[in-house]
Amino acid sequence: MSFDTSKSQAIFEKALKYIPGGVSSTNRVTSPNLVFTKSQGAYIYDAEGRRYIDYHAGFGPPILGHAHPEVNRRVAETLSQMDLVGIGVSEIEIQLAQKIVQHIPSADKVMFSNSGSEATYYALRVARAATGRQKIIKFQGCYHGWHDAVLMNIISPAEKIGKKDPGSAGMSSGVVDDTLVLPFNDVEEFTETIEAEGNQIAAVILEMIPHNIGCVLPRPEFLQALRNLTQKHGIVLIFDEVITGFRHGLGGYQGVAGVTPDLTTLGKAFANGYPLAALCGKEDLMAHCAPGGDVFFAGTYNGHPVGVAAALATIEILERPESYTHMFSLGDQMRAGLKEITARHGIEATVAGFGSVFLTYFMSGPINNYTDLLRNDVDKFVAYRRKMIERGIYKLPVNLKRNHISLSHTQADIDQTLEAANAVMKELN
Ligand SMILES: Cc1ncc(COP(=O)(O)O)c(C=O)c1O
Repeated sequence: MSFDTSKSQAIFEKALKYIPGGVSSTNRVTSPNLVFTKSQGAYIYDAEGRRYIDYHAGFGPPILGHAHPEVNRRVAETLSQMDLVGIGVSEIEIQLAQKIVQHIPSADKVMFSNSGSEATYYALRVARAATGRQKIIKFQGCYHGWHDAVLMNIISPAEKIGKKDPGSAGMSSGVVDDTLVLPFNDVEEFTETIEAEGNQIAAVILEMIPHNIGCVLPRPEFLQALRNLTQKHGIVLIFDEVITGFRHGLGGYQGVAGVTPDLTTLGKAFANGYPLAALCGKEDLMAHCAPGGDVFFAGTYNGHPVGVAAALATIEILERPESYTHMFSLGDQMRAGLKEITARHGIEATVAGFGSVFLTYFMSGPINNYTDLLRNDVDKFVAYRRKMIERGIYKLPVNLKRNHISLSHTQADIDQTLEAANAVMKELN
């Protein structure tokens, strides 16, 4: 099958003249190197004019679907009244903070920023201020943004597991030294580390489900051990729910798991694709960020009316009971369908996911942490996705990436996806 990408390539060549590498975020170049010119509902359209069912979803934000009319209308109405004023507070900021306090179990107070990286940066600063300690713990496979304290040990080569694996040149070595990296879901190693060094640890930060390596579910006893031991040693527990918040339920995954952290970071889905993030948590910790408190929390665009209006509209739609029912039911059908298809073709695979998130690893289980995922057949994983793209289904053709279903996806989209998956799995075998 010929798959013309000449129009995309021509645009990309032009980008290369003015933008280093042609993109504004490191992880946006893949093969096929398509340029998209339109996004609407469950679909994205490339420069060649082809339509794709979109499961990449810009790494997760458009939970209602792209360019959702109710969200866009609320943004437009807000902008007709006010853009950025940058002094005091807006009424819609208060309404949104109230909604978050209502829904997120750990949220007594909320502050807004623009990106998830800013939110996790502030969470760690608050933890250091509150404890007077320097070190933090993160887990292999979790991503929390681009800043020095956390940009390490995400998708690491096998030889880097158990060692520091910084994600960029130019990171401060002192900051990197202060971050300890542990295996996810490993109660024993976590317990040993805390018993030995707990009095130097300011914070433990994690993705409750490490979605940056697909979907590795946490063992309930692991989450409970994190909660119990951090409490015992006066360590701030941070759940980074930038992906899971509002995607896995109105209360985030903490609402599902029934474990409440001290601080929570939110981003992505709760503003359906408009730039907005939040740090929320316990009253005493959040008080550090208040004017007059000892933590400096600021940003020209913090609480921008565009993102805030989008988030209010998005959460109101997610509050309708049928919203999660629709997405989760399509997710269940997708996972069941993929399981049946891979079994039918005798392909070694594990279909993983939760709610509206799904993916197929090309390996057998069990999968408890990143080390297990080294067994994934990367060539097959990427080849499968490239072939799906040629059939009008867009899943990011990069190892371990997850897929997202939105409220705009329909039964017909799922049926078409499974039909394509069946054909591609047959070819792959
Ligand atoms: C769990 C998690 N935390 C934080 C971030 C950083 O968010 P942003 O890219 O908005 O800075 C991401 C981004 O992918 C993420 O997945």
